[in-house]
Amino acid sequence: MSSILDAMKQAELESQNSHVTEEVTHTRLVDNTPRFKSVFPMAEVPVDETRPASMDGVVGAAEAIVDLYRMIDRVADTSCTVLITGESGTGKELLARAVHGASPRRDRPFVAVNCGAIPEALLESELFGHARGAFTGAVATKQGRLAQADGGTLFLDEIGELPLALQVKLLRVLQAREYSPVGDTRTLSADVRIVAATNVDLEEAARNGAFREDLYYRLNVIHLAAPPLRDRPEDIPALAGYFLERARVKAGRDRVTKISRQAAEMLCSYGWPGNVRELENTIERAVLLSGGSVIEPRDLPPKLQGFGGSEARTGPRLSDRGVDLRKAVETFENQLIRQALEKTNWNKKRAAELLGINRTTLVEMLKRKRIEAA
Ligand SMILES: Nc1ncnc2c1ncn2[C@@H]1O[C@H](COP(=O)(O)OP(=O)(O)OP(=O)(O)O)[C@@H](O)[C@H]1O
Ligand SMILES: [Mg+2]
Repeated sequence: MSSILDAMKQAELESQNSHVTEEVTHTRLVDNTPRFKSVFPMAEVPVDETRPASMDGVVGAAEAIVDLYRMIDRVADTSCTVLITGESGTGKELLARAVHGASPRRDRPFVAVNCGAIPEALLESELFGHARGAFTGAVATKQGRLAQADGGTLFLDEIGELPLALQVKLLRVLQAREYSPVGDTRTLSADVRIVAATNVDLEEAARNGAFREDLYYRLNVIHLAAPPLRDRPEDIPALAGYFLERARVKAGRDRVTKISRQAAEMLCSYGWPGNVRELENTIERAVLLSGGSVIEPRDLPPKLQGFGGSEARTGPRLSDRGVDLRKAVETFENQLIRQALEKTNWNKKRAAELLGINRTTLVEMLKRKRIEAA
């Protein structure tokens, strides 16, 4: 774990946090120093994890995401097949690009094919190419995506939609690294890494015959499960900051630089069925709608109204992956302590009163937890 990477990551987190500010209701908070850090769980994310440089552009420090960085790092120097699963908008394509970027194939093409978007009749020729005269309209020889990806990575999106006939042909690519273009008797060799993605349960599809079981096992050598955003709400502030930065540049709205505390709470409390893509679109829209420099609740879509604020707070949600209870309690405790300190302008006596503990107990806790004024 390199300390330079640690430092870079820390700096990245801090700059992302700096997009979110308190409402200016407290004199201490009028300046632009990062406040979000001390209010949201981001501050408690361990910063001793590194990630491959190729993960640039992938934002997230939640345990489930850090596991993915680790896995991508571990298989970086191989060409093993990778299967990425996850709900729509969770970042499957971004992860596929990260796998490519971390591999020695990074200087060769990354070619994406959406198996669900191309009509079945065209898909075979799209993937494998065709010979001249192979079918009506095949007026010239055409190179397939497999050949275009030579030496690089072929990303097969929505692999669950691949017709059974083509599943056999893909199996041949995976097993023997060879294929034949449509209407061509030659056998060509394929030097590609296959990364496939799906939001359907392929194991289930294999059980009921919609997907070849042998292909499923061949694809599922390394499995990356992109977590839904609702299972990693601690990443929402950083993602929101990241998308804000991108959106203000894209829309030429330089003046929009902050997200108000209330709007940030709404973002953190919403369930995000459309995952990261929905958050990205929401921020883009808010940047366009915002009349000032701060994104306010009124700039967020109606479906988010009613989320956030103390009355709508439902407390932490237990994800399917479970939780480290001690860490979670510690995080919660640290957040309340930081809030008490901020509210009292770091007056430890008054902060201790707000927390219902002795001043000396608070001082001891601050020392043990290494909490200092920003
Ligand atoms: N961790 C992340 N950090 C930064 N941006 C992200 C992250 N995850 C997703 N995004 C962004 O969210 C959008 C959706 O991501 P992506 O297209 O990779 O999702 P997907 O899982 O392939 O979605 P679908 O199943 O709908 O195809 C993209 O603009 C992507 O850049
Ligand atoms: Mg996708």
